[in-house]
Formats: sequence, C-alpha cells, structure tokens
Amino acid sequence: MIQTKGLTKDFGAVHAVRGITLAIEPGELVAVLGPNGAGKTTTMRMLTTLIAPTSGSAEVAGHDVVRSPGEVRRRIGYVGQGNGAGHQHRVADELHSQAAIYGLSRADARTRVGSLVEALDLGDLVKRKVSELSGGQRRRLDVAMGLVHAPGLLFLDEPSTGLAPQNRANLWEHILRMRAEHDMTIVLTTHYLDEADSMAERVVIVDQGEVIADDTASSLKSKLAGDRVAFSTGSPSDLAAIVSQLPGSSEVEATDGEVRARVADGPVAVAEVLRAAFEKGIAAGSAQTFRPTLDDVFLSLTGRSLREENAK
Ligand SMILES: Nc1ncnc2c1ncn2[C@@H]1O[C@H](COP(=O)(O)OP(=O)(O)O)[C@@H](O)[C@H]1O
Ligand SMILES: [Mg+2]
Repeated sequence: MIQTKGLTKDFGAVHAVRGITLAIEPGELVAVLGPNGAGKTTTMRMLTTLIAPTSGSAEVAGHDVVRSPGEVRRRIGYVGQGNGAGHQHRVADELHSQAAIYGLSRADARTRVGSLVEALDLGDLVKRKVSELSGGQRRRLDVAMGLVHAPGLLFLDEPSTGLAPQNRANLWEHILRMRAEHDMTIVLTTHYLDEADSMAERVVIVDQGEVIADDTASSLKSKLAGDRVAFSTGSPSDLAAIVSQLPGSSEVEATDGEVRARVADGPVAVAEVLRAAFEKGIAAGSAQTFRPTLDDVFLSLTGRSLREENAK
C-alpha cells in the first residue's frame, strides 16, 4: 500500500526527513511515534502529495506521489494535524461539499454522508455550525471528511491530540469500527504512547527525520526495553550488589529502602534475587516487576524520554 525509498525533505537548512524507507501492506494499522519535530507530519504530507520530496521516492496506493499525485489523492483520505472543516458552515454542508470535491454524484453523496454520520455519531450535529462543535465532535467530523470518498488508505495526523481521555476512546472506537467494516489501511501519528501500544499492530518510531525502530509494540518492548524490577529492603547496597549480578541487568539504583533496576526477565529476576538474598541473610521485603512501555523503548534507543519530549 505504501513503499518509500530514501525519502527526504529539506526546508532550507532544516533536514526535516532524512531518508525514510518504509513498506506498509494493505490492511495494516501502523502508528508512527516520535517527539515534536521528528518529521512525522512532513512525511505524511509527502505521502499525501501535499509537498514534494527533496529526494527519494514514494509509491502510495500503487502510484508515484510525484508523477501521479491525482491518482494517489483519489485513493487516500487525510486528516491533518488540527486542520479540518471551515468554521461557519454546517456539518452536513461540509460533508456534502467534500463529497462534491471528490466527484461523487448527489445520490452517492447522500448515501455516503448518511452512513458516515451514523458511523461517527454525528446525527445530532448535522445542522450545527462547525464552530459550535466540541473538540471531540470536531475530530469525528474531520475523520468523516477524510472518509467521504471511501478511501482504502487513511492517514490520521494526531487525530486525538487535545481530547479528553473519554473522547479519545470514543473516537478510536469509531475509527476501528470503520476500519473493520471497510478493510482500510491506516497510518496514524499520536503523542499518546498507550494508544499506539494498544491499537497499532505495528509501531514505527521516528527521531530526527529517521526511522529508528519498526516492529510490533510487544516485540519492541521485549527486545529493546526489558522489564523493570523494584525490591524493598533494609540493606539496599547489599541487595543492589545481587541485582547487579543478574544477567542483563542495568540501571541499578539503590535508594533509601529500595533497589530498582532494568532486567531481561522480571519474574525470573525476582525469584533469583529473593533466593540469593535469603541465602546471604539479606533482608528483602516486597518485590515488584513492571512490564516496559513504549517510552522505555524510546529511552533505550535515544537516552531521552518521549513522554517528556512531547510534553515540552
Ligand atoms: N514548512 C516548513 N518550513 C520550515 N521548516 C519546517 C516546515 N515544516 C516543518 N518544518 C520543520 O521540519 C521539522 C519536522 O517537522 P514536522 O514534520 O512537523 O515534525 P512532527 O510532525 O514530527 O512534529 C521541524 O524541525 C520543523 O520545524
Ligand atoms: Mg506533526
């Protein structure tokens, strides 16, 4: 569905995208993660033909983005970062205008708009002005706008940014239902790591214009981050010495009454540390193991926290 080779984009001296090579198969749901300024939006804008690459190539929905932008546009939907419908128009008019832009007949437009309004829960809103919608309602309208022409491939740039958790969940429920019904391929960006973790079958992590990881969330976490463990103890330095001996242990921190570390396998580490502590007569109280997050993955790849970078 998407095939890029060495895609780059320079804005003057700014190297926004530095050679992205990606292949996305039909039906995949891929989340692109990365800190602000990583080049996610720029990449999406190249793939949706809105800006031309500086070098490299991209084929989207079977057509080259530079040679056949019209063919690409007809086959994709794009919900840009915080853009969307004009303010003073009514919701229904916006959707019908969008249908007209894509060349749907009036009858087809009525059917299509009707089913999108139902699928995205916009029924009570069709007569309202876009400017009167809440953030969550507005984003659902944006998604409907991107789907009017029934594209097989949908790009969503931070569709849920700024929404309350309940509205986020609601938006995703709608998007996932539409995906199941229409067999869509979806490429999205998000700041919410938990969203990417729970929904995407594949996570592409971008940093400074390059892809630094590309795999399922679970294999990224198990390959790159490992588990975290924490022990409460009366002898932190003695227990830290034991923890440091574990295979694959790192970032061992002994603080007042506690030892924390990163290890390859949390439950195995807990069993071994407690056994060794018992043998050596070192007091060890409770033990906890934490599964890694995608933030741990980013941290282990870059030494920075994606959560903190995005909060800036
Ligand atoms: N039109 C533009 N002109 C100049 N610089 C730009 C433009 N668009 C984006 N950039 C720069 O390119 C880099 C990548 O931006 P962007 O793709 O928006 O990142 P992301 O979406 O990952 O936050 C940033 O340094 C940004 O400031
Ligand atoms: Mg962006």
